[in-house]
Amino acid sequence: PPFEMIVVGSVNADLVIRVDRRPMPGETVIGSDLATYPGGKGANQAVAAARLGARVALLGRVGSDGNGEFLRKALSGDGVDLDRLTDTPGPSGVAVITVGADGDNSIIVSPGVNARLSEDDIAAAADLLASARVVSLQLESPLATVVAAARTAARVVFNLSPPAAVPDELLAVCDPLVVNEHEAALLLGGPGEPEQQARALLALGPRSAVLTLGADGAVVAEPGTVTAVPSPRVEAVDTTGAGDAFTGALAWRLARGDGLADATAFAVRVGAASVRAPGAQSSYPYPEDLEGL
Ligand code: RIB
Ligand code: NA
Repeated sequence: PPFEMIVVGSVNADLVIRVDRRPMPGETVIGSDLATYPGGKGANQAVAAARLGARVALLGRVGSDGNGEFLRKALSGDGVDLDRLTDTPGPSGVAVITVGADGDNSIIVSPGVNARLSEDDIAAAADLLASARVVSLQLESPLATVVAAARTAARVVFNLSPPAAVPDELLAVCDPLVVNEHEAALLLGGPGEPEQQARALLALGPRSAVLTLGADGAVVAEPGTVTAVPSPRVEAVDTTGAGDAFTGALAWRLARGDGLADATAFAVRVGAASVRAPGAQSSYPYPEDLEGL
């Protein structure tokens, strides 16, 4: 059977150190032991969906280094189809991450071979991309590649992260556009009340928009309706990749035919489950982990 969803995007090795506080320029602080986790916004979305039961493929690139092998193994162990994951000479993507005492994170991404994901890769997979119910995108891949993928997709779920200027053509096909408060403020030229921000996101041209609010859940904007979706309360250990867990789960439920508000209510629980454990993919829930949320 065809894939329910295809993720086009990044694959990174996450190098994580927990710190009490982050160093100022010129300063040294001592942190925890280093933990290395599979990450990358694209891979994270794919794993989030796969663990929930999705038939999902990942179109991306990993490097010819040890991280490439590590990342490929982790993805295949989680049941993500990797026929379109290309081994590429050069370094794999890496994210250097500090996690603070509150579970908050700061991330520096070194794209490595993620930067080589090309429009040709999209053209070579055009039939496959067109056959999936949903194609899920983020912005750790070159913008031209993301735009090309959006053109071939039946339905686009796009997490505009990390934030950057994108063409109207891309915004116009998003269903939904997914951003957090920080990204929304950058897109809209300032912060604001969530429901109003969600409406303003919709006015940028997507078919629908979802504003994620961390512990406060999400707001869904569709033409004519705005719906607030609360989040279950959880203790935050590590919020890294919670947005990717949310978006991967959302894309899958949309592919299964859920309405946007229902899919968002489900995805909020998946995001909440993910913050209870360290790492991104390593913390993503299986269906049974959602009980009680
Ligand atoms: O969104 C979290 C992800 O951002 C991490 O897994 C890291 O790889 C960076 O891409
Ligand atoms: Na986590």
